[in-house]
Amino acid sequence: MTSSSHSRYSGTAIALHWILALALTVSFCVGLYMADLPLSPQRLKLFNWHKWAGTTILALSMLRLLWRLTHRLPPDLPMPAWQARLAHLTHLAMYGLFFAVPLVGWAYTSATGFPLVWFGVLPLPDFVAPNEALAEAIKPWHGALAWALATLVVLHVAAAIKHQFIDRDGALSRITPFHP
Ligand code: HEM
Repeated sequence: MTSSSHSRYSGTAIALHWILALALTVSFCVGLYMADLPLSPQRLKLFNWHKWAGTTILALSMLRLLWRLTHRLPPDLPMPAWQARLAHLTHLAMYGLFFAVPLVGWAYTSATGFPLVWFGVLPLPDFVAPNEALAEAIKPWHGALAWALATLVVLHVAAAIKHQFIDRDGALSRITPFHP
């Protein structure tokens, strides 16, 4: 089976896929790095950029979900039923986490009482009242959900590589931007 035998994702879907993949990877790495920094101007700066990137990811995830619910996907690739079910479950869980990770991060920030101003220009609402005990309770959930998302992303990438290079069914080619 060659990649040309399966239709490709649209330009919008491909753009959203790779912009979010890059933004999520960078936000995850910055999140891990900044959390252990001592109090300093650099830490505050990275915290702000992390929050701005994370809320942008939330907005882009909403666009992506809207696209997903209003468009037809290319046909399923030929694979055993259990693999197709696992792939669908993984995709569903990733969509859930695209929302849960930034929303829990935002709830944590609100609970700490720090106002969130998107890129320093657009004040965003606090949807949780400042509460130190609540902030401490929420904090580990943000990291744990981000790790769950990272684990699924690794599985997802491994499956894409296996399909492309072992099964040779063109799974990766139909979501890459440049394709002959
Ligand atoms: C979807 C995008 C996001 C990803 C992948 C992500 C990932 C992470 C990770 C891995 C950490 C380190 C956790 C730890 O080691 O304890 C972290 C920390 C943090 N994140 Fe996010 N995050 C995202 C979005 C957000 C958003 C939208 C906000 C707030 C508006 C936010 C606020 C924070 C804060 C304040 C911390 C530091 C917690 C602390 O140590 O005090 N994050 N994030």
